Amino acid sequence: MHTDVCAMFGVEFPLFAFSHCRDVVAAVTNAGGFGVLGAVAYSAERLDAELSWIDRQVDGRPYGVDVLVPGGIAEPAGADGAAVLDAIPQAHREFVARLFAKYGVPLPDGPAGAAGLGAETADVARRVTAEGATRLIDTALKHPIRLIASALGPPPPVMVERARAAGVPVAALVGSVEHARRQVAAGVDLIVAQGMEAGGHTGEISTMVLVPQVVDAVAPIPVLAAGGIATGRQMAAALALGASGVWCGSVWLTTEEAETDPVVRRKLLAATSRDTVRSRSRTGKPARQLRSAWTREWDEAPESPGPLPMPLQLLLAEGAMRRIARAAESGNPGAEELANYFVGQVVGQLDRVRPARQVVYEMIEEFTETLDRLGRLTADPERAAGPE
Ligand SMILES: Cc1cc2nc3c(=O)[nH]c(=O)nc-3n(C[C@H](O)[C@H](O)[C@H](O)COP(=O)(O)O)c2cc1C
Repeated sequence: MHTDVCAMFGVEFPLFAFSHCRDVVAAVTNAGGFGVLGAVAYSAERLDAELSWIDRQVDGRPYGVDVLVPGGIAEPAGADGAAVLDAIPQAHREFVARLFAKYGVPLPDGPAGAAGLGAETADVARRVTAEGATRLIDTALKHPIRLIASALGPPPPVMVERARAAGVPVAALVGSVEHARRQVAAGVDLIVAQGMEAGGHTGEISTMVLVPQVVDAVAPIPVLAAGGIATGRQMAAALALGASGVWCGSVWLTTEEAETDPVVRRKLLAATSRDTVRSRSRTGKPARQLRSAWTREWDEAPESPGPLPMPLQLLLAEGAMRRIARAAESGNPGAEELANYFVGQVVGQLDRVRPARQVVYEMIEEFTETLDRLGRLTADPERAAGPE
């Protein structure tokens, strides 16, 4: 394929794969697409190890890294993990502890456990700070990455400055035209226009409506379409809207390589497109995810204290979800009800486990067939039939 993005990144297919799993990133890159490792869950040391592994697998082929740097994290409360943890109100800790009791999920021993927190929460708190994010950016730039992406809000100046110095293009995700303009003003080289049907943090505008608006607003900066893209037909539609390529997240969660929790994987394979909800209950910002007892209790129960702002809700939920996943795996039915994960509406199309490479090839094959089919719509039927 030949789009500006193929030329810019040296890829065969303008198909970008966001994944927290290094195996998916390497598999997509090696299949001719562009893998992007989501670094939010990692310490700088772990990120360094994951990227060294990818470097060995991809043999110089292009890949990138995505760092989540929400503005609020730069606030003084985010300067160190302990201060962030202290900012979680008692009412919210107690609500989590009551949820665990209601669904029969064991809490960790000791006072932290009784307060709905555990070692996992403290661990995440240490990383989700401005300093932590800067360390991730520096670590990523030591590797031969070809793209660094900022997940939430305009990329911080430190990301743009250091990426520029290293000659690495910067991408940013946007959910509205206004955000896209702001990102371009902040110095971004590539915009990912992500519709509300996407998994993870989303705005309110659908991909079909958002992409052409963003393409027109930021030209000649290239735009990737994201949200609701998991097949070649959807990829063809995205390119028809003016995008130079696509950026997919949900479709990789059910691939062979993904390290998705087994209970979540089972739920994803069974879910329909009606089984997701845009909820603040996992991070504090609206994020599309599987509907579960967790989202229902936080969003609908009269006794819910309501989600905290980012990053406090992320800490509370992340720690709780890790314990919930472990309990669900040992057959705890309450934990199974609570378990969920970020996923977009395309979850209704994900009904089998495939290798990531096969997902890439099937998408490209269907994309090509779609273009042929569309080409025939305007072909002269007499000429197409050939001479008598
Ligand atoms: C499980 C999951 C986690 C995500 N986490 C992030 C993240 O940390 N940073 C980010 O930029 N986007 C994140 N996203 C959004 C993806 O980058 C992508 O834009 C989105 O998945 C595209 O829509 P789709 O889910 O319909 O494919 C996440 C998506 C999923 C499904």
